[in-house]
Amino acid sequence: MAKKVFPPAIIFNPTPVIMVSCQGNNGKPNIITVSWAGVLCSEPPMIGISIRPNRYSSSLIKESMEFALNFPSSSLIEKADYCGSISGKAADKFQDANLTPAPSKEIKAPIIKECPINVECRVKQIIPLGTHELFIGEVVAYHLDEDIIVKTNKADIEKADPVAYSPGTLEYRRLGEVIGTYGFTKGKMKEVGT
Ligand SMILES: Cc1cc2nc3c(=O)[nH]c(=O)nc-3n(C[C@H](O)[C@H](O)[C@H](O)COP(=O)(O)O)c2cc1C
Repeated sequence: MAKKVFPPAIIFNPTPVIMVSCQGNNGKPNIITVSWAGVLCSEPPMIGISIRPNRYSSSLIKESMEFALNFPSSSLIEKADYCGSISGKAADKFQDANLTPAPSKEIKAPIIKECPINVECRVKQIIPLGTHELFIGEVVAYHLDEDIIVKTNKADIEKADPVAYSPGTLEYRRLGEVIGTYGFTKGKMKEVGT
């Protein structure tokens, strides 16, 4: 198949859909949906989310230096899209989207009860990159709905039913079937060295 080359742009596909809950000095919690997000480090557990400085949530996170990641199931996609479409400056997104703020363990901002996976983070660094600032957060606690727990403290991805986002085509999608497990080819293919 012939290939076409393009000038630089984001062609990272898929990205996650994450509802980030945050709370600043006024004590009113807010939610921003983000897709520019990923794992940065295993130990200590660190994640990164990138937010435009003009978002209301950016100022709230800078005030508290805390936030929580909430992973919506596919049934929550309308609420996730809504929280990514209007600003919390003039709206109460918890109320409007009929979402429940539940107490976090280590941070002031609440988690979103309806999301099966919630990750509390404390901001370690904010790095300006251009259109976005990278918020590097250290995980300080996480919550799992009891019915999605496997292997003591892990999440069953099928039951969690997370949403993938395709930035180019703007589609939200569910995951497909299992096609392998980590390391399942070990000893089956010719070793090629790294
Ligand atoms: C699927 C989706 C992904 C988004 N990803 C990001 C992101 O990674 N960073 C960002 O700054 N804004 C992102 N947005 C836009 C914000 O969620 C949106 O501007 C939101 O209204 C900001 O809310 P706030 O002003 O209450 O903080 C995304 C929106 C959607 C729908």
